[in-house]
This record gives sequence, structure tokens and C-alpha cells, in this order.
Amino acid sequence: MVNRLENKVAIITGGASGIGAAAAKLFAKEGAKVVIGDLNVEAGQALANEFPESITFVKQDVASVEDWENVRDVTLEKYGTIDILVNNAGISVAKSFFTMSVEEYRRIVEINQVSVFLGIQIVGAVLKDKGYGSIVNTSSLNGLVAGAVGYTDTKFAVRGMTKAASAELAPQGVRVNSIHPGVIETPMTMEGDAVEQIKEFAKHIPMRRMAQPEEVANLMLYLASDESSYSTGSEFIVDGGMSQ
Ligand SMILES: NC(=O)c1ccc[n+]([C@@H]2O[C@H](COP(=O)([O-])OP(=O)(O)OC[C@H]3O[C@@H](n4cnc5c(N)ncnc54)[C@H](O)[C@@H]3O)[C@@H](O)[C@H]2O)c1
Repeated sequence: MVNRLENKVAIITGGASGIGAAAAKLFAKEGAKVVIGDLNVEAGQALANEFPESITFVKQDVASVEDWENVRDVTLEKYGTIDILVNNAGISVAKSFFTMSVEEYRRIVEINQVSVFLGIQIVGAVLKDKGYGSIVNTSSLNGLVAGAVGYTDTKFAVRGMTKAASAELAPQGVRVNSIHPGVIETPMTMEGDAVEQIKEFAKHIPMRRMAQPEEVANLMLYLASDESSYSTGSEFIVDGGMSQ
């Protein structure tokens, strides 16, 4: 199957790295025009330079209302429409209740949770007016089962927000689903302090390995495309059997 996203326009946040970058490349390969919003200007621009016909980089802090409005406006000016929103940008902070400051807590809530609210409100409004679209929200396995404070809470919130948004938007022709990746080999897992712990942990995953970001991007592609036309408000797990 080719061109599964022909004539579609997608916004992917956190598209400069890891899962978001894999999704941007895959969506572009499948015929979409992709706008990646990310704080990482160097990596984001490099990816856009690699695919000048199909990928555009816009600097964006997903916690900022103005930046969301700018990404929406740039996308509409350049491509005239929006069909797909992938709320993918996120951070993880490996701390406990007793070492995390309230400032750190508020920051993770802004980046992982408030960002998804803003994306649905600001970009989702375009899809709603069009009466068509798909929103994919990146939660985590920690949106289903416990992990670290802050990360777990915000990823549960993304899962809940997906339900609220899908209930509101289903009659308007817009689908909203959440994805729940397990352990994926990206800078988030491989460049932190816990690399050795994560590698050890991966040996105990039923499939005995981490996933590559492309394996998550494939699920995003399915949910972004019309192939998933009757799925909304649902949770899609990609975890090598960890939660079975
Ligand atoms: N890697 C995993 O094992 C794993 C597992 C479950 C869920 N996830 C989720 O997948 C998503 C992507 O993670 P990844 O593993 O590709 O991580 P990553 O660190 O490789 O990529 C995240 C991207 O988000 C961007 N970003 C961070 N804060 C931002 C902000 N305020 N505004 C805009 N962009 C911002 C970063 O610059 C980076 O390019 C995240 O939501 C993460 O929580 C990852």
C-alpha cells in the first residue's frame, strides 16, 4: 500500500526527534504534507531540509498558546487546510514525590498535558469546522499503569482528555485516539541517566527488546489515515506484550 495519506496535511509536535521524527518521515513517504512543531530548531530544521517538498519546520513550545496559533496559521497559509494532528511532544522527569519540586511538576503538566488541550482547542477547531480529521494523542503505557510521578499523571490525563475530546468531536467527523507505547529506543530513553536500567529492563519485556520509533509511527499512520475510520476514543497499545 502506498500513499495512505495522499493530499492530507498533518501537524506533528515533537517532530524533530524520536517517535515524532519517524512519524514525520513516514507520513511524508505516504503522501502527506507535514508540519513539525518542536523546540529543537537544529534537528527540526535539519529534518525539513532533508525533505523540502513535504516537511516544514516551525519552532514551537507546545505549552504556549501563541506558538500553537502560529503553527496553525503557518500550516493554513502554506497548505490551506489541516487534516491530522499528532500530539506527540513530551518530556519525562525521573523523580519521586520527595525529590520533584513544584516547579518541575508544573512544567511537566504544561508540556505533557496542557499542550494536548491547546492542540485540540486550537488545531482541533480547524478539523471541527471542516467536519473531518484525526487527532492522535501520545500517552504511554504509564497512561494505563503506574510509573514516575508527573509522567504517569500527565499520561493518564492525555488518555482521559482523548475520551472527552472524542465524545465532543465524534459527531463532527473528527476522530481522537490515544496511543500507549512501552519502551521505545529514542533520545528520551537512551540519553538520560537511566540507560543501563532501561536496557536491563528491556530484557524482561515479553518480546525481549525495546521498539524502534518506526514501530510506533506505523500505529500513528494507521490512526491518522482513513483505515481507522470507525475508531475513536480508543486506546492503542504498542508495548511488545508488556501489559498482557
Ligand atoms: N521513548 C519511549 O519509551 C516512550 C514511551 C512511551 C511514550 N513516549 C512518548 O512519546 C513521545 C515522544 O517521545 P520520544 O521518545 O520520541 O522522545 P524524544 O525526546 O526523542 O522526542 C521528544 C521531542 O519533543 C520535543 N519537545 C520537548 N518539549 C517540547 C516543548 N515544550 N515544545 C515542543 N517540543 C518539545 C523535543 O525537543 C523532542 O524533539 C512523548 O510524548 C513521550 O512521552 C515515549
